Amino acid sequence: MKLCTTVQEMRQERAKLGTVGFVPTMGFLHEGHLSLVRRAREENEAVVVSLFVNPIQFGSPDDLANYPRAVERDIALLQKEGVACVFTPDAAEFYPDGFATQVDVGGVAQELEGPSRPGHFAGVATVLTKFFNIVQPQRAYFGQKDAQQCAVVQRFVQDLNIPVEITTLPTWREANGLAGSSRNSRLTEEERSRAPVLHQALCRARDLARGGERRRMVLEEAIRDVLVKAGLTEIDYVTVVNPETFQTEETVGETALALLAVKLGAVRLIDNMPLF
Ligand code: PAJ
Repeated sequence: MKLCTTVQEMRQERAKLGTVGFVPTMGFLHEGHLSLVRRAREENEAVVVSLFVNPIQFGSPDDLANYPRAVERDIALLQKEGVACVFTPDAAEFYPDGFATQVDVGGVAQELEGPSRPGHFAGVATVLTKFFNIVQPQRAYFGQKDAQQCAVVQRFVQDLNIPVEITTLPTWREANGLAGSSRNSRLTEEERSRAPVLHQALCRARDLARGGERRRMVLEEAIRDVLVKAGLTEIDYVTVVNPETFQTEETVGETALALLAVKLGAVRLIDNMPLF
């Protein structure tokens, strides 16, 4: 397995590989990330994984500084998965003085996480555009865990004619339902024991929807109720949207997606679930 730090090294390595499946990550890998790597291996001659805590997608310096990191452990995990190349760009080379370009996505990027985290999706779309240009993968793999991010990526790849096929894979969850996230490592033991409530709340809405409930407000209220009863009151948003547009509709359709963002102590967690 090759380790590349500079753009030039990465370009040289890429030129030696056949079809490439690319898995962009911010590291501190868990089973969710590895599920993407495994699918990429099945479908491509070689897999490239990036480990890069992308500074331009963080709103606050504290959130960036507190983001968990374990590069050596991540590299060892990826070696075991048969990855061809790990790209850990140097932030100073990636964003040199004078860097002045942003990929600003409209539409789906303007909802939910958009206003909650100003500049976040522009940071994501900008770093991914750079990665796609450097790694030139045939396919790139993303997790449904970040459903809105997936929609944003599909949008700008299509709009900018970037020749990469985007695949979205299901959310990997712990046995108790908690969605795998690097941020889970920042929860205290007590918070961790309460965190599966996010999944339980989404399941409640799914059960109601499958039982025939179509009123968005009722479904949202049911989710909030489970959260609040479990003492999770710092709710950023709870919503049910059309996953094509990320807009709400009073009566939910067959493709409806429930999403939430909740703060548990110092950690902001997101999760989502298709209702049907
Ligand atoms: P990161 O949070 O490290 O996630 C990397 C990829 O793993 C994303 O596609 C994410 O959706 C996926 N993922 C995370 N948790 C998952 C889970 N429990 N099950 C399945 N997939 C999961 O998302 C980012 O990094 C960054 O925004 C990035 C795209 C790398 C741009 O900087």
